[in-house]
Amino acid sequence: MSKFWSPFVKNLTPYVPGEQPKMTRLIKLNTNENPYPPSPKALEAMHAELNDLLRLYPDPNSDGLKQAVADYYGIQPAQIFVGNGSDEVLGHAFHGLFQHEQPLLFPDVTYSFYPVYCGLYGIAFETIPVDEQFQIRVEDYARPNGGIIFPNPNAPTGCLLPLAAIERLLQHNTESVVLVDEAYIDFGGQSAIALVDRYPNLLVTQTLSKSRSLAGLRVGLAVGHPDLIDALERVKNSFNSYPLDRLAIVGAAAAFNDREHFEQTRQAVINSREQLVGDLQARGFEVLPSAANFIFARHPQQDAAQLAAKLRDQGVIVRHFKLPRIEQFLRITIGTPEQNQALLDALA
Ligand SMILES: Cc1ncc(COP(=O)(O)O)c(C=O)c1O
Repeated sequence: MSKFWSPFVKNLTPYVPGEQPKMTRLIKLNTNENPYPPSPKALEAMHAELNDLLRLYPDPNSDGLKQAVADYYGIQPAQIFVGNGSDEVLGHAFHGLFQHEQPLLFPDVTYSFYPVYCGLYGIAFETIPVDEQFQIRVEDYARPNGGIIFPNPNAPTGCLLPLAAIERLLQHNTESVVLVDEAYIDFGGQSAIALVDRYPNLLVTQTLSKSRSLAGLRVGLAVGHPDLIDALERVKNSFNSYPLDRLAIVGAAAAFNDREHFEQTRQAVINSREQLVGDLQARGFEVLPSAANFIFARHPQQDAAQLAAKLRDQGVIVRHFKLPRIEQFLRITIGTPEQNQALLDALA
């Protein structure tokens, strides 16, 4: 604390990211990164961009990347916003679309950045409990609100909401923005991008950090009605009009264009997930059904915090949240088959 701080800074509760250890020999299953490398075509495109044009500012609109995303999803560039990771895109959405009289609604068990943004932007919120099986019940969101946000699949549970349920929610909630945070959608769900042409209050965010193995590049995006995109552009252009650098723009576009690499790596993660779920169940763990690149598991006889600490002693890091309802769970990122085996060996 310092006398130089703006008064509101001392009341902020910043997000605490998962550990990024300096020791490289740890098996890192704690921050939902992809265990496979990015598309070689994305790496090539970034190498080619390392030239004297770095003297110049990048394209403030990232048009090349928006076009690649538009081609991939069969939508218009005007329906797309891009930013430095979906966290930044979400930040602009909270700022530009959720500051209303009524509270923002999100699940009680969800991505822990949402309350942090509410604190930063002074947004009132209410949490809606997920059910006993940790599933979101869209019927529970039928109450006055200034917006609704949830990840699909949800984090940190991995539980997926079918597209039909999201559409039911949209049919009943027409007066505020519904933001579906699809950070993990490529590992087993159907994207709500299919609905954006019919619901002008739907905004869908995605990231290249997970299914496209580019967490270090920091690229995320939002898709929705051009009016919603315009709100995000207005916030962005009042904050930092060049969010994506030259390397990020070309690397992310090339990653979207390399469908083959994307399909191969996401399928490998899905296959490993199914294998790991079975292996953990065989060792007595209860594992929530996951459509993500991580699983959420608890053991009836083992304390989760102690398990996480013991795993770390053996060189395997997983994520434990000391939060109500979920403090006996571990969130385990799906690794390569070898990394998953190392986890099982450490547990044994
Ligand atoms: C639900 C959810 N949304 C968004 C993000 C942010 O991802 P990024 O900023 O890397 O795009 C994460 C990261 O873990 C996440 O779990």
